[in-house]
Amino acid sequence: MIGAGYVGLVTGACFAEFGFDVVCLDNDTTKIDKLNQGLIPIYEPGLDSLVAQGMKSKRLTFSTNLKESVQASNIVMIAVGTPTNITDGHADLGYVYQAVKDVALAIDGYTVIVTKSTVPVGTGDEVVSLIKQTRPDLVEGVDFDVASNPEFLREGSAITDFMRPDRVVVGTDSQKARDVMQRLYRPLYLIETPILYTNKPTAELIKYAANGFLALKIGFINQMADLCEKTGADVQELGKGMGLDNRIGRKFLNASPGYGGSCFPKDTLALSKTARQLGAPCTIVDAVIEANTARKLKMAERILQRLRDRKLSKPRVAILGITFKPNTDDMRDAASLVIIPELLKHGVDVVIYDPLYYKNSDCLPHLAAQGITWGSEVTFASNRKEATLDADAAVILTEWHEFRGIDLSELQQSLAKPEGFLPLLIDLRNIYKTNEVDGLHYLSIGRSEVNNKIAI
Ligand code: UDX
Repeated sequence: MIGAGYVGLVTGACFAEFGFDVVCLDNDTTKIDKLNQGLIPIYEPGLDSLVAQGMKSKRLTFSTNLKESVQASNIVMIAVGTPTNITDGHADLGYVYQAVKDVALAIDGYTVIVTKSTVPVGTGDEVVSLIKQTRPDLVEGVDFDVASNPEFLREGSAITDFMRPDRVVVGTDSQKARDVMQRLYRPLYLIETPILYTNKPTAELIKYAANGFLALKIGFINQMADLCEKTGADVQELGKGMGLDNRIGRKFLNASPGYGGSCFPKDTLALSKTARQLGAPCTIVDAVIEANTARKLKMAERILQRLRDRKLSKPRVAILGITFKPNTDDMRDAASLVIIPELLKHGVDVVIYDPLYYKNSDCLPHLAAQGITWGSEVTFASNRKEATLDADAAVILTEWHEFRGIDLSELQQSLAKPEGFLPLLIDLRNIYKTNEVDGLHYLSIGRSEVNNKIAI
């Protein structure tokens, strides 16, 4: 497994759990040293114990020696990062191609090279020619084959998603490689997981198309939420009503401040760029990207408007949750990365409570490592009550479990109560029902605002 990040580490640990010998490689020696001490560099529920089990059984090891590891393996999975190239929006394949060259130089027996990372359509064929270029002595089908095996892991539930996938997709033209992949995924036969064998371009495009469609569902329900606000409709009921049609399905129809994460933003952009470049522009995906970007700023404006209505000299806002979704420490493209700077820009005093970012000392370096510069401009509360005490608004940005059971009467007491207004709760994840917020000025999305009239 080349790349010991979110995908490589989870996938490697799960294959070790399946009974295979796995060596996870990374060129970040510090990361490998920490992993060899059992220290996991990312937060993913259940990963630490799975890695510990793999190490204990000696089926999972960590190394920086690529040549030795490749020569000891018959499958090499490439799970390195494919970040967005900020100049043109394409997926940056530099790490993928470097890994392929290094593997090609090391091959000394039939090896299946698998692209696990999300790569644009056509990359698999590029990988074949790169291997031939690097090692003209190697013969495809004899010394090596290339396969695409995209991952469909969601952060926060990655292990379950791996162990009980809706499907496995394998793209290759070689029967020999197909047989190898069949043996690799044999443990899933017990639960009759559908394994789709197709060619490389189709496998690569399935990944982008699936993520593009999921992002589209979110973009659609968020625009329906805006329409609900104009018509007195309820977006939660709307999602339910739509989802009961099994051609649509209920999932991914939850209105939100916009999607974030390491995949949807990156994959939708790469899909849009590749499609346009190949002369088959996906203008629908373009619209999803545009709507999602605009939405995060729109949410910030919605918060600022309620603060302006209260004519507060120096408003203080408690932000509950800053990660892009619950059960992860990942901040990539989180809505908070747009909303918090916008509030700060308008002179708002921001207090944050997030279950994973609650200690100033720990989280500033972690945030800075993710390129976040406003860490020193905000206050980190060590619990939710500390954050909301005397705050002019509490804003739920991420639907962490602990924000689902807030004692609303306690919250009502602890929030500021400016003359003529009720304490303000802004719920951007529609966690609460509009009929359980007595005593609060409750603003959510795609539903009517509650108690926004001046308090009597
Ligand atoms: C996603 C895909 O789900 C997964 O299959 C793929 O392999 C990687 O990308 P991930 O980004 O980890 O997984 O998280 P996901 O649960 O899909 O949520 C992505 C974003 O969409 C989050 O910001 C989430 O808040 C948002 N979202 C999700 C919504 O706004 N509404 C929804 O109904 C669902």
